Amino acid sequence: MGSMTSPAPRTDAPTGTPDAPEARASARDLVKVYGSGTTAVRALDGVDVDFARGRLTAIMGPSGSGKSTLMHCLAGLDSPTSGSVVIDGQEISRLSQRRLTALRRTRVGFVFQAYNLVPTLTAAENITLPLDIARAPVDRAWFDEVVDSVGLRDRLHHRPSELSGGQQQRVACARALVSRPSIVFADEPTGNLDSRSAGEVLAFLRRSVDELGQTVVMVTHDPRAASYAHRVVFLADGRLAGELHDPTQQDILDALALAADDDGQPAGSAAPGPAAPDVPAAPVGRHAAPVDPA
Ligand SMILES: Nc1ncnc2c1ncn2[C@@H]1O[C@H](COP(=O)(O)OP(=O)(O)OP(=O)(O)O)[C@@H](O)[C@H]1O
Ligand SMILES: [Mg+2]
Repeated sequence: MGSMTSPAPRTDAPTGTPDAPEARASARDLVKVYGSGTTAVRALDGVDVDFARGRLTAIMGPSGSGKSTLMHCLAGLDSPTSGSVVIDGQEISRLSQRRLTALRRTRVGFVFQAYNLVPTLTAAENITLPLDIARAPVDRAWFDEVVDSVGLRDRLHHRPSELSGGQQQRVACARALVSRPSIVFADEPTGNLDSRSAGEVLAFLRRSVDELGQTVVMVTHDPRAASYAHRVVFLADGRLAGELHDPTQQDILDALALAADDDGQPAGSAAPGPAAPDVPAAPVGRHAAPVDPA
């Protein structure tokens, strides 16, 4: 049974030294504003969060709450307006463009909702592509371990068009893991999959953490997907709004229902002040629709 807690109190840790020593990624007072003037959107409004090594964390929240923006800033794919991001002990805003690119290629894995495989390459070639681009050697023993874990041994020479959606997404997961990154970010990795394929991908992501020692952060709208995580973090209006540890699917459904009842304030909210009145939160409850129990 999970227990709901408010976000950890704000700590003013000096940038570059995340206060949790085992954190693989940390954000401190992270702010991202898109646009300017009257059309400015504050997509992230002061987020403090740590992602611990060897854990699968799910990020949930209404559409537009800043989940993708948070992942992109953490992964160095987008730059925050202010605040700090530390990956693997490195403050990424201080890195040169060249070193940031190198960090993204070798220390960070990313899985997208739309797989993003190269159609003309085989599964094996897609998996090693980031290392090939970086001209980094492929650790064959690790490659074999990842391929076996993801269950793709007999599909390695197929092209994406010859694979099912679930198999393609497992190729994308293997590609994210092949460099032994410090952390893998997955943005709605099961958003395009039927429930059986989603189950395969989620089981693999969890196994990559439990058996291969990886660290994974995954955005999802699906309470069943989130129930694979060690921890679920809720975002609302660009702020952290609560978290659950080792939740069941029912715990997550309850938290989402409570958040919907609570007028857009997710349960466990630290009540960080009124939401911007002109940006109403989407009803969280729409994600609490009955889920296929398969
Ligand atoms: N490039 C951009 N330019 C302007 N506004 C943006 C941009 N990207 C995101 N936003 C805005 O920032 C806010 C947060 O967007 P984000 O994509 O992070 O939400 P999300 O939680 O991932 O939503 P969803 O569940 O729909 O994917 C939204 O209001 C969105 O319209
Ligand atoms: Mg998104």
